Amino acid sequence: MKKIGVALLGLGVVGSSTYRILTDQADYIRKNHGVDIEIVHILEKNKQRIEELGIDKSIVSTDINNVVNNPNIQIVAEFFGGIEPARTFLLASLNAGKSIVTANKELFSKHRCELTDASNKGGGGIFFEASCVGGVPIIRTLTLGMQGDQILSIAGIFNGTTNYILSKMSNDGMGYSEALTEAQRLGFAEADPTADVEAYDTMYKLSILSSLAFHKSVPIDKIYREGICAITKEDINYGKEFGYTLKLLAIAKITNGKIEARVHPAFVENNHPLASVSGSFNAVMLEGSNVGDIMLYGRGAGGFPTGSAIVSDIVCCAKYPDAGRGLFDNSVLTNSDFNTDFQCRYYIRINVSDKSGVLANIAKVFGEYDISISSMHQLEPSSDSASIIFFTHMTFELGINKAIKKIKALDVVNSVYAVIRLI
Ligand code: HSE
Repeated sequence: MKKIGVALLGLGVVGSSTYRILTDQADYIRKNHGVDIEIVHILEKNKQRIEELGIDKSIVSTDINNVVNNPNIQIVAEFFGGIEPARTFLLASLNAGKSIVTANKELFSKHRCELTDASNKGGGGIFFEASCVGGVPIIRTLTLGMQGDQILSIAGIFNGTTNYILSKMSNDGMGYSEALTEAQRLGFAEADPTADVEAYDTMYKLSILSSLAFHKSVPIDKIYREGICAITKEDINYGKEFGYTLKLLAIAKITNGKIEARVHPAFVENNHPLASVSGSFNAVMLEGSNVGDIMLYGRGAGGFPTGSAIVSDIVCCAKYPDAGRGLFDNSVLTNSDFNTDFQCRYYIRINVSDKSGVLANIAKVFGEYDISISSMHQLEPSSDSASIIFFTHMTFELGINKAIKKIKALDVVNSVYAVIRLI
């Protein structure tokens, strides 16, 4: 039987779960996948974790040279997260001819060209199923499951923390801060939630997935990004009244031959499949040229779901090492390869002085920028002001931005409370 030596770099939540799955399922993997996976070395300094897992101390150290220079290790699985020392350790492993497995979406979205070059030179593969949407096998679907299709679009909910927060705001009437605190208390959100709530995490994942889907390099600086911090429960509730659910969406598609990639909150019609993806769950929708729509749904975070994807990569690498090679096209695209002026429908909530001529002023600005209103709703007025919700037809982002700037400057406008895209 094929024997494969593995090193685990770090025993945090995902590293520990991976260790448990590999040890608990060693017989199952041997019997059903025909490979004998041996954990040869572990980098970890936390003695308590090592003891809790009952790991033989002789295979634990804090020195990467014990991994890179060990000929019995073929696969290096990294769980540090962040850029350094993960980048240096993985490059050293690839340069030594080993394959790597990682869940590190930030590293992989920022440095995949460098890692791909090292893989091409060293001959080892790169496996990163766990980097995007945790336990949902989206990478394998893109790389091994859809060769009969050109992928036209990819869209989804790639972040469980923000989906949990938005679900709480929608279902339990919580404000943003209350829902975030609840998510932190339950361990869904980090103490510093910036990467999740400002949508960096979703952007990293979209960069990786759209690059794979379109066989072109989609760097993070070509992805429009907007987080959920400014979302209020008022807008979530108004959206509900009109049949919409608010989600943080990642969307990438090819429009007129150009790549369009964006991450932002959006109102989704209640009968859209993504509207019912609630709590910490994730989902990805793919549109293939022949197969049509595909949707994958599951847990995008957590020790065992993410560990499951890591172990899947380790077994895949052991059985099919070529599956981790040559997956990315590193050629650099120019600005003209990307579409930044995308089209959407919009929900716009504006607070105005409640007097005659106000609507005419606002409508004039929309008209100047060729923005067509599909419906307008005045909410209950107070003594001297009123809030108005406008829904637009499909219109261009640049036009909306210019119109909103001009509307904000009108004397009769007190505040533009929200501008939210619709899909
Ligand atoms: N923090 C992410 C989430 C998981 O909440 O989905 C890791 O990318």
